[in-house]
Amino acid sequence: MAKDRTKFVCGECGYECGKWMGRCPSCGSWNTLVETAVLEPVGGRTLSTGSHAVTLASVEERDADRISTGIAELDRVLGGGIVAGSTVLIGGDPGIGKSTLLMQAAGNLVSSGPVLYVSGEESKPQLKLRASRCGVDGNLLVMTETGMAAIEAEAERIKPIALIIDSIQTMVNAEVTSAAGSVTQIREATAVLARIAKVQGCAVFIVGHVTKDGSIAGPRILEHMVDTVLYFEGDRHDSFRILRSIKNRFGSTNEIGIFEMCGDGMAEVSDPSHLFVSGSSSTGCCVTCIMEGNRPIIVEIQSLLTSTIFSNPRRMAAGMDNNRLMLLLAVLERRAGVRISDKDVYTNAVGGIRVDDRGADLAILLAVVGSALDRRLPERTAVIGEVSLTGEIRSVSRLSARMGEFVRRGYTRIIVPHSAGLNGVKGVEAIPIRSIKEAIKELI
Ligand code: TYD
Ligand code: MG
Repeated sequence: MAKDRTKFVCGECGYECGKWMGRCPSCGSWNTLVETAVLEPVGGRTLSTGSHAVTLASVEERDADRISTGIAELDRVLGGGIVAGSTVLIGGDPGIGKSTLLMQAAGNLVSSGPVLYVSGEESKPQLKLRASRCGVDGNLLVMTETGMAAIEAEAERIKPIALIIDSIQTMVNAEVTSAAGSVTQIREATAVLARIAKVQGCAVFIVGHVTKDGSIAGPRILEHMVDTVLYFEGDRHDSFRILRSIKNRFGSTNEIGIFEMCGDGMAEVSDPSHLFVSGSSSTGCCVTCIMEGNRPIIVEIQSLLTSTIFSNPRRMAAGMDNNRLMLLLAVLERRAGVRISDKDVYTNAVGGIRVDDRGADLAILLAVVGSALDRRLPERTAVIGEVSLTGEIRSVSRLSARMGEFVRRGYTRIIVPHSAGLNGVKGVEAIPIRSIKEAIKELI
C-alpha cells in the first residue's frame, strides 16, 4: 500500500489536517498532532458503484436474530442478546471488571457456537486462571495476539459467533506506523474489526480503557464506528457495578445492568433496591427512589451536620453533585429558615451509587434537616420530590413506577409533591406537600 502521503492527526480528538500545528484547532490541546501515513483505499474510488435506491416498502422487514449471553443483565443492556454482525464497545476504568464479564459471557456463548477470546494484555495461563475462577469451561478458544492481520485470519478460519478483543488499545495494524493505542491505530483496528463482524457475521466485543478525563481513549472516533457503546461505572472500592448503554443501534439506551464483583466473577443483581439502603432508623437518614434508565431504585441518603471550626463551613457530598447540595442548602436556609451557615454538612448516598436524579432533592434536604434538628421520619416512610429555588416541591417523572417500587419494598407512607395530583395508590398512604416547610413538619 502507498505510504508516500502523510497527514497530521490529533491524539486527543482525532482531528485531521495537512500540516503540523502546535495546538489542535478542534479540541484545543497542545502538541497532540502526530504525523501519520495516509492509506490509499484499495482500487481507488469510482463514481459508479452499481448501488441503487429502493423504496422502503420493498425492503423486507426482519428482526435481528439474537443469541443470549446467558447473563440476563448483559442481555437487557444489549437489547435482548448479541446480534450477528454487530460491534459492541465496552468502556470503563481499568480493573472494573470488563475482562471478567466478557469472559463469563464468552463461556456461556460457547454452547451456541465457537467463540474466540483475543487478549493483548494477559498471558494464556492468566486467562486460564480467570476462566477457572469464573467457572468457564474448556471449549472457549483463546488467543494472545495483538496483530490485526493474525486475528482476522484466525477469525476467517474459525468463523466464531462472537469475537472478543481485549483491549483495543493493545491492537496493532502493521500497515500503520504509529504506536499501539494511538488514534490512528485504534481507528484502523476498529475498521478491521467492523469488517470481520460484517464478513464473518459474528458479534464483536471491543474492550476500551478510559482515559483519566473520562473519554474512551482514542476518543469519540471509536464511538461512532461501533453499533453499541456500553459503559461500566462504579467505585472500585465498592463491589457493585452499573453497565450503562450510551448508544445502541439494536435496542434502547434507557437500560442499565447491575452487577456485583464476587470471588467467582461478576454476579447479576436483578433486584438492586436492597443494595443502597442501610435500614438505619437514626436521625439524618432519608429514603427516596431514583430512576436509573427504566429501573426505579430505592436509595437512602444520609447526612451529618457538625459545628464548623472554619470561616467557610464545609459542604461535602459523596455520590451526588456538590454544587446541587450547596444550592439545596441555600434554599433551605432562605425558604425554610433552618440555619446551617455555621455547620459543616456531609451527605452520602448509601452503597456508593451516584444520585443525579432531581427527584432525590427533597430526600437530601430532609436528611440534612433531620440531622440539624435531631429528628427523623416515621418508620417505613419515604419521600419523592424536586426542590425549586422558591422552596416549592415539584413533581418528578415516572412517579407511578417509583411508587410501585416503594410498595414492593414495603414502604407504607410516601411524602409526595402536591402538584403530582396523586389521589390514592394501592397499598400506601400518599402525603401530598407543597413546600419544604410542610415537609419538615413531617419529621418527628
Ligand atoms: P478485570 O475484569 O480484569 O477488569 P478490567 O478488564 O476492566 O480491567 O477485573 C479485575 C478486578 O476484579 C481485579 O481487581 C480482581 C477482581 N476480581 C474479582 O474480585 N473476582 C473475580 O472473580 C475476578 C476474575 C476478578
Ligand atoms: Mg482487562
